[in-house]
Amino acid sequence: MDFPVFHLDFLGNRMLIALIAVLHVWINHAFAVGAMPLVTALEWWGYRSGDDRWDRLGYRVLTVCFVVTTTFGALTGVGIWLSTSLVNPYAIGSLIRIFFWAWFIEWLVFVTEVLCIMIYYLSWKPMARRKKAHIAVGVALSVASWVTMAIITAILGFMMDPGSWLARESFFSGVFNPIYLPQLAFRTPVAMIAAGWLALFLAYFFTRSEPDLRRRSVRFIALWSLAWLPAAVAGALWYWRAIPVWMAGNVPVALGTQRFAAWYDQLLTVLAAMVVVVFVTGVFGVVLPRRLPRVALLVPFALTLVLLGSFERVREFIRKPFVIGEYMYANGVRVADLPLLKEEGVLHHATYARVREVTDSNGVAAGAEVFRLSCTRCHTVSGVNSVTDRLGGLYGPGAWDRDTVKYYLVGMHTARPFMPPFPGTDREAGALADYLVDLQRAPRPALGAQDVGARPGAAGPIGGGEEG
Ligand code: HEC
Repeated sequence: MDFPVFHLDFLGNRMLIALIAVLHVWINHAFAVGAMPLVTALEWWGYRSGDDRWDRLGYRVLTVCFVVTTTFGALTGVGIWLSTSLVNPYAIGSLIRIFFWAWFIEWLVFVTEVLCIMIYYLSWKPMARRKKAHIAVGVALSVASWVTMAIITAILGFMMDPGSWLARESFFSGVFNPIYLPQLAFRTPVAMIAAGWLALFLAYFFTRSEPDLRRRSVRFIALWSLAWLPAAVAGALWYWRAIPVWMAGNVPVALGTQRFAAWYDQLLTVLAAMVVVVFVTGVFGVVLPRRLPRVALLVPFALTLVLLGSFERVREFIRKPFVIGEYMYANGVRVADLPLLKEEGVLHHATYARVREVTDSNGVAAGAEVFRLSCTRCHTVSGVNSVTDRLGGLYGPGAWDRDTVKYYLVGMHTARPFMPPFPGTDREAGALADYLVDLQRAPRPALGAQDVGARPGAAGPIGGGEEG
């Protein structure tokens, strides 16, 4: 507990990470990992068939991907590091320790990827007479894009299930965790398919005046996506089988809670309606405005984005209550430190807490700090997944009974297995209950980032000094 707590009350910290990360995954998988080999394939096909039009098409698709990846892709990539380090520095700290060299290599590979895409894009025309060499750059770029994803996937798999690392604590047991390869086997073909559906739309758009090329390119790209489909299905099954039983039980909760199901259903309904419209226009030849079918080409791409978004969301949810499976809870408390914190208190070990001890008179203020430390990684007070809404769901709108709330807190991990155990002392649970009951009486958002640093003589982090 030796970092300040960053807290975003209206949006929630989880949502902050989710928005940036899902956008990044969309861009990374569709516009980079999948698109680079597809563009290289288009270029190669043009070279092989001696038909320049494929070359031009490849270049145009690449232009879109180049602009998107080097702007939004790079920004959201940095955004992930920024938001995850702010929201859960404990988890990122542990991951850096465990994957130290992988982290370093990831950076080298990323720089290589950026250099390759610069060279590949900027030299497309200058190297027109050296096609073979240029296609080789495209292959190198495709490999580098995939390797950046492959390294990160090792870490994502580890966070779900560290497997034998929990006993061995070696680098390679961490990298080759039980979920790594299955998840990579799923992500790779899905990225290829996402790029295919993206390119389908772009190609259609870029071939307005060339009906023959339009027909051929739509066919080429559709075949590309279909070819990857069996691998995606096989990867999905392998991945599903690698999910531990306790985690699989969280999947329905992940899909059903937090009103996620509602917007997801609505989105699917809209998309299904679009598919029906396309089908009717295609099969029955119903005359509709010319624009419609072109827009309809976005449907498969949009569906793939929904698939990727819900995949990431479910992946993040089902490992709860942990941020690193069976090693660290989502609130940054290491499983091994829980008994000590329960005995000595979270406040005692929180370097940046304004209140360091519960007394007879400071219940509400101490409780606010306990809330910040133990609950705000997942809950807000006034925004998304608000704790007062949740308590209202349990105890209704009437005045809550402080002791009932306290009783709930002490056993909250048994009531809701995706929540970690309350990490503090009995007195701290009482103070938190005081605070929550007070919030019901006088609603107010939780404060933002902590700004009070450790004072001389204050207790340090776990294993540190004693209270002065
Ligand atoms: C790992 C993330 C996480 C942490 C940490 C966490 N919660 Fe929760 N909590 C959730 C989720 C997710 C829900 C369910 C939301 C829903 O039903 O939509 C929930 C539900 C609740 C509920 C309603 C329970 C019910 O049975 O309906 C209460 C009350 C609650 N949390 C209080 C707390 C308090 C107090 C803390 C801190 C001591 C805390 N939570 C810590 C994720 C968390």
